[in-house]
Amino acid sequence: MKAIEIRNKYLRFFEKNNHKIIPSASLIPENDPSVLFTTAGMQPLVPYLLGEKHPEGTRLTDYQKCLRTVDIDEVGDNRHLTYFEMLGNWSLGDYFKEESIKMSFEFLTKELNIPVEKLSVTCFKGDDDAVRDEESAEQWRKAGIPDDKIYFFGKDDNWWIAGEEGPCGPDTEIFYDTGKEKCSESCNPSCDCGKYVEIWNNVFMEYFKNSDGTYSKLKQKNVDTGLGLERMAMLLQGKKTPFETELFSKVMEELEKMQKNDIISSRRIVAEHLRASMMIIQDGGRPSNTDRGYILRRLIRRMTRHINKLGIDLNELPKLIDISVESLKEMYPELTENKEIIKNVIIEEKNKFIRTLQNGEKEFEKAVNIAIKNNQKVIPVDVVFNLYETYGFPQEMTEELAKEHNIEVDVKDFDKLFKEHQEKSRMANENKFKGGLAEQNEMTIKYHTATHLLHKALQIVLGEHATQKGSNITSERLRFDFSNPQKVTPEELKKVEEIVNEQIQRGLEVTCEEMTLEEAKNSGAMGLFENKYGNSVKVYTIGDFSKEICGGPHVKNTSELGTFKIKKEEASSAGVRRIKAVLL
Ligand code: ALA
Repeated sequence: MKAIEIRNKYLRFFEKNNHKIIPSASLIPENDPSVLFTTAGMQPLVPYLLGEKHPEGTRLTDYQKCLRTVDIDEVGDNRHLTYFEMLGNWSLGDYFKEESIKMSFEFLTKELNIPVEKLSVTCFKGDDDAVRDEESAEQWRKAGIPDDKIYFFGKDDNWWIAGEEGPCGPDTEIFYDTGKEKCSESCNPSCDCGKYVEIWNNVFMEYFKNSDGTYSKLKQKNVDTGLGLERMAMLLQGKKTPFETELFSKVMEELEKMQKNDIISSRRIVAEHLRASMMIIQDGGRPSNTDRGYILRRLIRRMTRHINKLGIDLNELPKLIDISVESLKEMYPELTENKEIIKNVIIEEKNKFIRTLQNGEKEFEKAVNIAIKNNQKVIPVDVVFNLYETYGFPQEMTEELAKEHNIEVDVKDFDKLFKEHQEKSRMANENKFKGGLAEQNEMTIKYHTATHLLHKALQIVLGEHATQKGSNITSERLRFDFSNPQKVTPEELKKVEEIVNEQIQRGLEVTCEEMTLEEAKNSGAMGLFENKYGNSVKVYTIGDFSKEICGGPHVKNTSELGTFKIKKEEASSAGVRRIKAVLL
C-alpha cells in the first residue's frame, strides 16, 4: 500500500468515527519562533489539550508534517529520518482509553489487514505519579492480544511528553513484529535489535508536568496518538527501510546510476536531506546561521557533501530535485507549484557552501604551515574540530587533505568534542521546545491581546497594507512583523502607541465567537493564517475596535493590560518592519 493510500485510509477511518479532519499545520510553527520545527501532531494543538475549545469540536484527526533534528547525524542508517509525517487522532476530553484502543486495533487489523499475531503492545507499569495502566491492558486483552504480548514498562518507555514541561501522560505503544529472530532470551518491544518496530503511540494525556517536576491533573482527559507514516508504508510494503518505498526509491535509483562510488549511507543521506530541505523551504524556511535556518543550512550542506562523496557532479542537483518532487507530488502537490523557488534556495546554498569549503581549505593550509614552522608532524584536534564547526569541513576531508601534505591529524578526541558539541545543541533545542509550549501564562495572554490592538492601530495609522507577517510573544515582550515599505516615523509610532493605550483605557470587552471561515470573512474579521484553520474558526472581537480570526486565548477586558510602550522599530526583511513592545 502506498503512503498516500495509508494516509487517506487513516483520515477516512477516523472521519467515519466522527472525527473532523483538520489541515496539517506548517512545519514551521506559526507565530512561535521559540520552537524550531513542528515535531509531533499534538504540538499545534497544545492550547486545546490544556482546555481551550477547538472550533472543530472534541474529535480531530490529521496528517502532520514533522521534523526532528536530534537524530540528524544518525541519518544514513536503515531507519532514521529527520522529516516524517505523523498521522494522528485526538480526543479533547471526549473518548478515552477504551475507545481509543478499540479504534486503533480495528484500523490496524481491519483497514490495513495486519494479522493480530504480528502485534505486541506495551503499557505503563505505574509509579508514584500514576497508577499501573491495567485499563489499557484489559482493552488489549479484550481486542485479542494475548497476555504474553502485553508488556509493562516504566516512564522511560511508556510515558510521553514533548520536552520537559507540558501536557503528558502514560501511553500504550503498538509494535509490529518483523519476524526477525529474537536477539536474546529477553528480547522484547523495548529492544532496539529490529525485531519489533513501534508503529503507533496512544498517549492518554491527563497530566501536566510542572517546571518543578511535579504533576497536576489537566482539566480534561485527552487522547493524543501518533502513527509514523513512512514506517508503516515500509512495513506494509514488506521493505526493510523507508528508502525502498516509493517516497525515496526513485531518487535512490537515480543516485545509484549517477554515482562513481557506491556508498549506501551517502545515498540515503542525500535522499533524506533533500526531501527534508524541500519541505522546510516549502513552508517558508530559508538557510541562515541561527536556529531553524541553521538546521536547513546543515541539511543542504550535508547533502552536498555526500553528493560529492558519491562522486556525483553537483550540477545534477536540479535533476534530483525534479525526481524527488515527482515522487512526492501526490502527497504534497504544493511542492510542484514551488519547485523553482525550492531549486533556487538549494542551489544558492550549495554554491555558498562550495565557497565556504574553499575558505576552509585556506584555513587548513594555514594550520599546515604553522605545524611545519613549529616542527610538528601533527595538526591538533582543536584545529580539526574548528575546521568542522566553522567551515563545515568534515573530519575525513581534513584527514584526506593532511595525507596529501604528508602530515598527520590528531583525531583521537574529535568524537569527544563532537559529542560535547552535539549535547550543547541538543540542550539548546530542548530549551527552545520547552519555551514554546510552556509559555502560556498571564503575561503572554496579555501580550496576545495587545498584539491584536497593535495590529489594528498600525492599519489605522499606516494603512490597510500594514498586515501581520509574523508574531512572537514571550513573558517579557511582544514582537510583531508587518508589511510596510518604509521605516515607520517616530510620529507615527507615537500615534500607534496612543491609539493602543486609548483602547486599553476604554476598558473594552474581549469576546469570542465561532463561525465558518466564510462568515468570519464577511464579518470583516482580519484573517491572517486562514489555511491553518479548519472550516469553523474562532473570531476574537475587542469592543468596537478590532475583529480577528485567532485561536486565543485572550484577556477578558483590555483594562487588564496596563500601559503599552513601543521599544523598537526596525527592518525585518524587505518590505517588512518589526516592532518590539512591552506592557508596563
Ligand atoms: N505525541 C505522541 C508522539 O509523538 C503521539 O509520539
